[in-house]
Amino acid sequence: MARVGIFGAGWVGVCTAVCFAELGHEVVVRDVVPEKVDALASGQMPFHEADVAELLERNRERIAFTLDVNDIVGCEFLFVCVDTPPTYSGDADLSRVWTVVDELPELSGHPILVMKSTVPVGTGEKVRAGLDQRGLDHVGYASNPEFLAEGTAVRDFMQPDRIVVGAFDSDDADAVASLYDKIDAPMVRSDVNSAEMIKLAANAALMTRISFINEIANVCEATGADVVKVAEGIGLDKRIGSRFLSAGIGFGGSCFPKDSLALKQLASNSGYHFQVLAAVIEVNELQKRRVIGKLTRHLGSLQGKTVALLGISYKPNTDDMREAPSIVLASRLIAEGAHVRAWDPVADVAKLPRGVEASATVLDAISGADAAVIVTEWAELAGVASDENRKAMRNPLIVDGRNLLDPDATRSAGFAYEGIGRPTAPADVRVEA
Ligand code: UDX
Repeated sequence: MARVGIFGAGWVGVCTAVCFAELGHEVVVRDVVPEKVDALASGQMPFHEADVAELLERNRERIAFTLDVNDIVGCEFLFVCVDTPPTYSGDADLSRVWTVVDELPELSGHPILVMKSTVPVGTGEKVRAGLDQRGLDHVGYASNPEFLAEGTAVRDFMQPDRIVVGAFDSDDADAVASLYDKIDAPMVRSDVNSAEMIKLAANAALMTRISFINEIANVCEATGADVVKVAEGIGLDKRIGSRFLSAGIGFGGSCFPKDSLALKQLASNSGYHFQVLAAVIEVNELQKRRVIGKLTRHLGSLQGKTVALLGISYKPNTDDMREAPSIVLASRLIAEGAHVRAWDPVADVAKLPRGVEASATVLDAISGADAAVIVTEWAELAGVASDENRKAMRNPLIVDGRNLLDPDATRSAGFAYEGIGRPTAPADVRVEA
């Protein structure tokens, strides 16, 4: 079993730490924020992620949290799990990565610095040069990107589709790969640049699928086809596959929007215009706004109309609001003069633009409303097309931004219904003056 140091007690760092501890390794997590370190050291989680608290509890004797960088001395592996947010130019901000390199204490033996943070291609080469310049040429370097999705991080770590290790030296690659010996998954070995690109390209491929199916949905709307059936029909083709083909009001979250910009910027810094990715990003921006057109088709002007946003996190089972489509939608509705209410079982409505009224229950949100928009497919919303809710609304219109409901059942329950990429029943459309 190995001794693993982790820089950064954020979501990636803590998920990685508890999973390595579960695999039997000794883990030390170093962060610079005292409150975070104190809380974690006393067993309190700074965020909610399924199974992480249980793993932390179960492996307490194998995980330490510290502010002192010297506590990582003696670790054979030093994982970098710090944030790489976008800068104003769209490039990834690597300042926290460089702080880690600058703050490395005196290290003996042959520890390996392992990059888990998502970084532009070429970062490993620069860090390698930086280590050498600091006289740390005895420190190895490897890229080992994470592919963890919120809500399923522990499962994604323990049962991954693949593990990617890129290194300058094959012994370093062997050593990093050995950390995952207990995990049964294909191992992709590569050079460092390719490992960095694998992470960026994987996210870009997933986003491309989403924008692709969203555009298919938009054409379905124009032509009378149903995107849910279309996705089923194309997804059964093994060359295509069925996952990530849910049309909706666009992707958000802490990774896709930032990583798509970083890859687009990385390409253009090298003189290449990444046309497909530019279109993927633009389609996603437009998709968030299409709900407005659906509402005006039913309600006419939105001035003075009350619209309830149901679910505001960027996806269900998280309170994460980063780049959530609800933020753009709320802003557009307010700009149109609508009165906006919002309900979410966990996300904080205060993170929406000023002027949005928080509702404690779905019923509060939709009472007297002219329309309800399902923005996030929370399981709690599956029964929203109830008798009670229909009677409570001033105008029983549901715009289903995630195709959560059955259109026929919803219409039979007395609602006007609009999904994404689904045929509109002619009787649904009632334009008021
Ligand atoms: C994603 C990647 O899945 C993960 O591998 C990477 O490491 C980080 O980014 P995450 O942001 O947690 O993970 O969420 P994910 O479940 O992938 O969803 C991202 C966004 O795409 C959400 O807004 C979701 O609603 C949207 N989405 C996803 C769709 O609109 N349609 C789909 O079919 C799938």
